[in-house]
Amino acid sequence: MSLLEVKDLTVTHRGKPIVDGVDFELNRGESLALAGESGCGKTTTALALMKMLPEGLKQKGGIVLRPPGVEDPINVHRRTETGMQVVRWRHISLVFQGAMNALDPVQHIDDQIGEVIRLHERKVTGKQVKARIDDLLVTVGLTAKLGKRYPHQLSGGQRQRVMIALALACRPSLVIADEPTTALDVVMQAQVLQLLESLREELDLSLILISHDLGVLAETCDRIAVMYAGRIVEIGSVETVFSNPQHPYTKRLLDSLPVIGGRRGLAPPIPGGPPDPGDPPGGCAFHPRCPYSTDRCLEDPPPVEVGPDHLAACHFSPWSSWPEVEPQKVRVDA
Ligand SMILES: Nc1ncnc2c1ncn2[C@@H]1O[C@H](COP(=O)(O)OP(=O)(O)OP(=O)(O)O)[C@@H](O)[C@H]1O
Ligand SMILES: [Mg+2]
Repeated sequence: MSLLEVKDLTVTHRGKPIVDGVDFELNRGESLALAGESGCGKTTTALALMKMLPEGLKQKGGIVLRPPGVEDPINVHRRTETGMQVVRWRHISLVFQGAMNALDPVQHIDDQIGEVIRLHERKVTGKQVKARIDDLLVTVGLTAKLGKRYPHQLSGGQRQRVMIALALACRPSLVIADEPTTALDVVMQAQVLQLLESLREELDLSLILISHDLGVLAETCDRIAVMYAGRIVEIGSVETVFSNPQHPYTKRLLDSLPVIGGRRGLAPPIPGGPPDPGDPPGGCAFHPRCPYSTDRCLEDPPPVEVGPDHLAACHFSPWSSWPEVEPQKVRVDA
């Protein structure tokens, strides 16, 4: 049975959708990548799953969590703020985008982690909390004595590891990591990703990893959901989607990845920019930038099954081959 089931998740701002009918499931121990250009709604989706949207944004749709060892499913979408306080960090936690600057600058690291543990487990003794903190710091590849430092006495990579330790502090079954490596150098990026990967196996975690870096996602995740203008336009196993993309947007994203050792140069970037989420073009939101679009694309394409556990929302899926096209073709009639 799935750990998380998301059905028709919609987030609106002044009545206009920013996230528009997102559906997916996540199994225990599985990692799902959430990909797509800046502004497509990745962070908003993550915040909605935690019910932590900023004021002015409204969410609708079903979010059901079935943590191992918990008898009844948790209907996140029906929980009140008080009801969510026992779910957040305990069952689902989030490593925020740009999180390494979100630590309290005037509190020692171990006090910040201890506070999260005590908030959820009233009965733990001081000694147990200390042991848990030391353990967590070691788990994320730091030494226990770093707990006595202030955030500014740590490197960026160390601070990001502390954020992961915080997310793990109450042993949740689902961790959402929003661009956890973007601010790090390449070596540190690889280390933090390896850490997430090994924690997943060790702690039987499920992971939602958000990034616009497809290379990072391919290395770390089992499945991938590609978002465009607030919708999932393609979802499937990383292997399938990377080897046989079925949405023109995914295809273009993959074409713009450098091929190591390949003779081919980089494909030209996708022309134009993503639409304003408050004012998307009618029909398929990608059609003004899509080299394959026709008048049919002025109608909304529903997601169709293009293979086992592989969906794509394009009128022309499944594509048996990708016709050669003029890459710069952009419809101006949108
Ligand atoms: N509080 C808010 N009020 C109004 N609009 C918002 C708010 N938060 C986000 N948005 C809009 O919703 C859209 C999606 O934003 P979101 O932060 O989810 O994108 P993202 O995919 O995480 O992008 P990035 O890759 O840059 O982090 C954006 O166009 C953004 O301007
Ligand atoms: Mg974001």
